[in-house]
Amino acid sequence: MDHSHAHTGADAPGALIAVSVRRTSKARTPAVRRLNIYASVHKALRACMGEALVAVGRMDHADDADVTLTVAQVREMVTFARMHLEKEDHFIHPAMEARRPGASARTTADHEHHLEAFARLEAGIRAVESASGEARADAATVLYRDLTLFVADNFVHMHAEEVDNNAVLWAAYTDDEIRAIESGIVAAIPPDAKALAMRWMAPAVDPAERAGMLAHARASAPAPVFAGMLAALEPHLRAVDRRKLESALAA
Ligand SMILES: [Fe+2]
Repeated sequence: MDHSHAHTGADAPGALIAVSVRRTSKARTPAVRRLNIYASVHKALRACMGEALVAVGRMDHADDADVTLTVAQVREMVTFARMHLEKEDHFIHPAMEARRPGASARTTADHEHHLEAFARLEAGIRAVESASGEARADAATVLYRDLTLFVADNFVHMHAEEVDNNAVLWAAYTDDEIRAIESGIVAAIPPDAKALAMRWMAPAVDPAERAGMLAHARASAPAPVFAGMLAALEPHLRAVDRRKLESALAA
């Protein structure tokens, strides 16, 4: 039985999201561990989106400095999410289509909605910036609610990618081929966007993943660039994670 479609009214987005999550057997760990191309960047996006949402919720609309910092954080989240969406559109969906025509239809359609959501969030940010007093408080509430629905929708979307899209990729491609798709994505990311991805990925993944990521960065970047990267990450890592990273990189 297909539970992917909502049976409630389309005017109830919360209910729509709740029933659209498909928790099938595919969601469990596969018997043979396969390469999950989405894993690290989706952890990063969940952290980035969650922190942006919390930041808007606690923003003091009467404090210009707080508003400036908070809207910059939301803009950074939109930049990161947009960059990620473009990479999936240019690399992952075409790969799926090449061997399983039609397989990317659902997440491609989701991306269209996300592009609309980015525009709405950007308009919401401008509304907060240009208003003052009670009008700014109202604009902040609108932004907070829009952001909440976007985050909720995107969490469901990323679940579909990790379960359904990965099932397609795993059936149609070997891990080496998936790794080649991943290398193509990484090679297409400009340096400033790479730094943004690293800022959110490294703190969001587990210690072993983090060590692997940084060891790879160390092997491919000049020493001063790598040192700068580590220094930028430090404020975002717990002390225990910094210690684990140091010993992994020293080994
Ligand atoms: Fe996506």
